Amino acid sequence: MKGVILAGGLGSRLHPLTKVTNKHLLPVYDKPMIYYPIETLVQAGIKDILIVTGGNSAGDFLRLLGNGAQFGLHHINYTYQEGEGGIAHALGLAKHFAAGDKIVVILGDNIIQEDITTHVQHFEKQKSGARLLLKKVPDPERFGVPTLKWGKITEIIEKPKNPKSSYAVIGIYMYDATVFNFIKTLKPSKRGELEITDVNNWYLKQGKLEYDILKGFWTDAGTFESLFKAGTLVEKHGRQRK
Ligand code: DAU
Repeated sequence: MKGVILAGGLGSRLHPLTKVTNKHLLPVYDKPMIYYPIETLVQAGIKDILIVTGGNSAGDFLRLLGNGAQFGLHHINYTYQEGEGGIAHALGLAKHFAAGDKIVVILGDNIIQEDITTHVQHFEKQKSGARLLLKKVPDPERFGVPTLKWGKITEIIEKPKNPKSSYAVIGIYMYDATVFNFIKTLKPSKRGELEITDVNNWYLKQGKLEYDILKGFWTDAGTFESLFKAGTLVEKHGRQRK
């Protein structure tokens, strides 16, 4: 299994913090934000990693991470997203890297406590399709929200005004290689982005979308409140080690 970390976008919700630097280089407690998704993948045994970056200070990723020796890696792959075309657009840039393999995708601003090895193993056993991770949250309207009926996802709505459940689709997605052909057909949403929720609903329509519930804490770090919360959670609970 290969891993893709999406660290593009302009981080405009964090201005002026992101005016001259990249959101994923900002500190979360004692480490740059980008360290957390890398550690999550490496902990799950995924060592073939692509970082899709973009916006400001892209070159600083190389200076900070090099070939990933501090994570026990021998090599990291990098690519660059022009502009802010959306999460699915950034993922589309990973097609050549994936080269037909299954992938685990993680958003560069998602910080989790749990070791995801078991979930990755579930996906390895899954013949095809996609697998999501869900987490109960107090503010689902900020996220992609699944409608659940009899334990099955029937629909996912991006940032709904009236959420149909109290779960968020967190920013760790597992996909088979068909994802790239679908992304090519996607049209931008009202906010001008290729939406990852459209990708997930496409798998759902085919009956090929599975999920697990994430244990431990999860937060994004893309707003002032959630960036602060991420640092506090890491300071208080640390991260689960093997
Ligand atoms: O955090 C989980 C949520 O992430 C999901 O529940 C939502 O369904 C999903 O749309 C996303 O919501 P956000 O609106 O919070 O995503 P945001 O625009 O903040 O982007 C999250 C990360 O994705 C960002 O840290 C880097 C990457 N990204 C984003 C965009 C828009 C890119 O690499 N390129 C992009 O163009």
